Amino acid sequence: MSIHSSNSIFRWALASAALVSVAMMAGCRQDMQNEPKMIPQRGTTFFASGRSVRPQVLGTVARGQLDADTYFHTGLINNQEQDKMPFPVTMEVLLRGQERYNIYCTPCHSRVGNGRGMIVERGYKPAGDYHDARILDKPISHYFVVMTHGYGAMPDYASQLNAQDRWAVAAYIRALQLSQHATIQDVPSGTNVQTLAEVSQQMGYSPNFPQEWVLPELTNVPSAGEMKSDVASHKKAMPATTQNAPENNALHKGTK
Ligand code: HEC
Repeated sequence: MSIHSSNSIFRWALASAALVSVAMMAGCRQDMQNEPKMIPQRGTTFFASGRSVRPQVLGTVARGQLDADTYFHTGLINNQEQDKMPFPVTMEVLLRGQERYNIYCTPCHSRVGNGRGMIVERGYKPAGDYHDARILDKPISHYFVVMTHGYGAMPDYASQLNAQDRWAVAAYIRALQLSQHATIQDVPSGTNVQTLAEVSQQMGYSPNFPQEWVLPELTNVPSAGEMKSDVASHKKAMPATTQNAPENNALHKGTK
């Protein structure tokens, strides 16, 4: 056999080995690409429920999360509400409570907690007035429990506020209650206390400023029927792509 021909056989073997390994790699890539995994929130035909997200096994508790039985998490001791905080109230806690309260509670309860927030002014069921004797007399953990589980027409805030924040808001409710019932005796002696009327006069506000604010009567409020036809006529005026959005969505859903 000449050197030339043995060389060409060697080349041929090398080329076919390379080809086989390329083919094998392609096979690998295929597997990785089409990995039979579940993508969060995406549907599946694998489970009868059509959901790829699996429910947790009932009674499962993640390590370090068995906290169902502490006062910090329930606001209850022997199933009773208590008039004590599970941790010391500092200025930092109150400021956090104030911030969270102003975000989540004022729409219904108002900034001073009289239950007359903007949503209530516009027709929602009157929210509790924290200065009302019945609510004032409640132990502090009652407020925590109300936020945790909701109360009558009020939805719960457990997902928006963690336990620490719910306690901070409860503490801030107490501060609000104090603020609306404070007397001169509550401030250090020698403090110069001015009435709201005096302050507003100095600031040059209108004489009505210290009085209860009354919202102007709503005028020209369209009826539900009028609003509906208004929406319909607006929809007609929209470009076709926007107009068809709901139908497109429905189609998309069907072919997912
Ligand atoms: C969407 C409106 C709404 C929001 C927002 C809201 N509440 Fe309420 N809240 C209500 C209504 C309505 C009631 C009265 C419920 C009833 O009597 O059916 C109420 C009642 C209460 C009461 C009194 C319960 C009692 O014993 O009578 C407390 C305390 C309270 N809310 C705290 C809060 C706190 C704290 C927040 C913020 C985390 C909050 N609420 C956010 C609507 C709201």
